[in-house]
Amino acid sequence: MSVRNIQKFLDGPVFKAVRDVADSEKVETYVIGGFVRDLILGTPSKDIDIVVRGSGIEMAEKVAAKLGRLKVSVFKNFGTAMFRFRDVEVEFVGARKESYQRNSRKPIVEDGTIEDDQNRRDFTINALAISLNKDSFGEIVDPFNGFEDLNEGIVRTPLDPDITFSDDPLRMLRAIRFAGRFGFQIEENTFEGIKRNKERLEIVSGERIVEELNKMIMSNKPSMAFKLLDITGLLKLILPELQDMKGVEEKNGQRHKDNFYHTLEVLDRIVPYTNDVWLRWSAIFHDIAKPVTKRFDAKLGWTFHAHNHVGQKMVPKIFKRMKFPMNEKMKFVQKMVYLHMRPIVLSEDEVSDSAVRRLLFDAGDDIESLMTLCEADITSKNEDKVKRYMRNFKVVRRKLREIEEKDRVRNFQPPVTGEDIMETFGINPCKEIGDIKAAIKEAILDGDIENDRDQAFQLMIELGTKLGLKKESQR
Ligand code: CTP
Repeated sequence: MSVRNIQKFLDGPVFKAVRDVADSEKVETYVIGGFVRDLILGTPSKDIDIVVRGSGIEMAEKVAAKLGRLKVSVFKNFGTAMFRFRDVEVEFVGARKESYQRNSRKPIVEDGTIEDDQNRRDFTINALAISLNKDSFGEIVDPFNGFEDLNEGIVRTPLDPDITFSDDPLRMLRAIRFAGRFGFQIEENTFEGIKRNKERLEIVSGERIVEELNKMIMSNKPSMAFKLLDITGLLKLILPELQDMKGVEEKNGQRHKDNFYHTLEVLDRIVPYTNDVWLRWSAIFHDIAKPVTKRFDAKLGWTFHAHNHVGQKMVPKIFKRMKFPMNEKMKFVQKMVYLHMRPIVLSEDEVSDSAVRRLLFDAGDDIESLMTLCEADITSKNEDKVKRYMRNFKVVRRKLREIEEKDRVRNFQPPVTGEDIMETFGINPCKEIGDIKAAIKEAILDGDIENDRDQAFQLMIELGTKLGLKKESQR
């Protein structure tokens, strides 16, 4: 992209205001980092980082005043200030020099030049700056050939990777995230640097790691990042359960599939159908218990008996360790893991109404997500098999709609309550009440009666009578 083209993108009111203030105050001012990278890639972002050779806070206040009395948030401790203008977020900081200590991600910061500031950045593609001063407006300041790396699709640290990664080990994950997101290669020396420094990840908080992983998962082809996590050795440190899925065993001439690569395929396949990060995580975890449930049976071959059940139990342990939220999102992932085989099993046979009704009952409002996961889970190379599954899934989806319309079991509320039973038979709370309610629910799910109060009431009387209970009116 030429300077002229860049200038065109810097034509908006924010950059004009910055330029005017930079000139009247006579301070060197640059736009830097991710904004420049994305601009050159042709997708300008809404986050603008401005670096000035002086006080970022003063500059922010002056620019905000020029743009119309915007509210400026000042972070004195960090020497930064930011404001929002329409849909963009603009952050200002003074150019700085940083040095790190071994046991912390928090640097010691001093004022510095633009070169110092570029030196402390993570990758050459993120260290590009564009001048915003009048005389040099739109000129790229690129001491590390970041422009060339961007064009060639290379992620490379500006300094010796051992310094860049040891200073801030989170950058190892960032390297992988950028490589995955843009389809870039990690330059060899940088790649070796990640392998060498991987243990340094221990000083990074779980929350930060999760934030990076979430961003990887939200890219268009997340398998790329996960493969890089695997080959750099980071995956073993972060999510060993996923790494354990790798590999194929053979016994008596029978092989099982490589569940790691299968999982990554499912993950990529679900991407076009959902932006829900938790459904994407469910794709990652759906077969997580396969390694621990794997057996070889002379008759059946390889089995992974109850891997959905065991997997569901593994999820909270993993969530806790990784500092994921232990809330309804976790419950959702557990539910997906537990139920992930149901629609497949169901569609293998003739799709019966009662099986569909039960599935609807168990999945509730998450039924759509479950179907999406199951469709992504069909990764067979056998086209006929895939077609057959997809056809059957269509039948399942149609029946789900029909049955929900008729029986409304999606968010099942018992048509006869415990109070109804106690009142009708004049009894106090006891085990029989639960038994009757459960039997009514089963009858509805089996399709013996409809999800209807009159029919359920009638059945309640029959069941109560069988248990030797008498109607209040007959006493
Ligand atoms: N940066 C860094 N090391 C980090 C984090 C950030 O050197 N651990 C620098 C990089 O120059 C980066 C800039 O700070 O470009 C802004 O960081 P951030 O907003 O986190 O990322 P972006 O590069 O803007 O990417 P995106 O927001 O698109 O993820």
